[in-house]
Amino acid sequence: MSVLTFHIITIFPNYFDGPFSHGIISQAQKKKKVSIQIHDLRGFTQDRHKTVDDRPFGGGEGMILKPEPIFRAVESICDSRSGVQRNVILLSPQGRKLNQEVAFELSMHSQMMLICGRYEGVDERVREYLTDDEISIGDYVLSGGELAACVLIDSVTRLVPGVLNKDDSTLNESFVRRNLGSGSSQGYTILDYPQYTRPENFQGLKVPELLLSGDHQKIHLWRRKKALEKTLKNRPDLLQYSHISEADKRLLELKLEP
Ligand code: ADE
Repeated sequence: MSVLTFHIITIFPNYFDGPFSHGIISQAQKKKKVSIQIHDLRGFTQDRHKTVDDRPFGGGEGMILKPEPIFRAVESICDSRSGVQRNVILLSPQGRKLNQEVAFELSMHSQMMLICGRYEGVDERVREYLTDDEISIGDYVLSGGELAACVLIDSVTRLVPGVLNKDDSTLNESFVRRNLGSGSSQGYTILDYPQYTRPENFQGLKVPELLLSGDHQKIHLWRRKKALEKTLKNRPDLLQYSHISEADKRLLELKLEP
């Protein structure tokens, strides 16, 4: 089984000291399922001041990351053996949006280079001639791509076979397109149902009795109903009422609890 290698190109290499040293991401590296390599962009400059940015042509606010160090970094880092895709990804708010499907798609690769944008932007020639993909983690502007790279790596790493103990546990999570079986909205993605653990009674707040009943069919229906309700309330964009199956509509009307 080959290792998935993430190369991160950044002007803040120390930024990544913490995020990959814990939990699943740390174990995935120990198990040699993924390798995360940090590259300091300043190391690819050729001037005395290690200049990585400059003013925008045409005027305007802020500084733009220069193309030369980024091109040099990608060309010197990437594994250019024939058949190995470079996969140069620019992290920026202008990219296509990361979701679970995109994470799945990325988890199939054997390497990717993540260019962390900074300041007011990156020279357009990087976007046009060097990158294969541009990814945003959401419709908000961060101060740079470093945090976005951490989010991408986390979401992709947990999908690499052998990283989670039970590979199929990811299939039960929200946002995974799956065949939901007969009587449900096939192929639609819905949010997770609520979960509870001990104690049964926490300061008077009780776990729904139905979950303690041992009636697995009822529990299954209750969970599905709660997941549908939560999705319609918090993320109606994922599940339009008109697309919900008749069985699910009936379930939404059903009173399962006393
Ligand atoms: N850099 C700044 N904002 C970003 C975002 N939303 N996603 C990815 N990279 C970014």
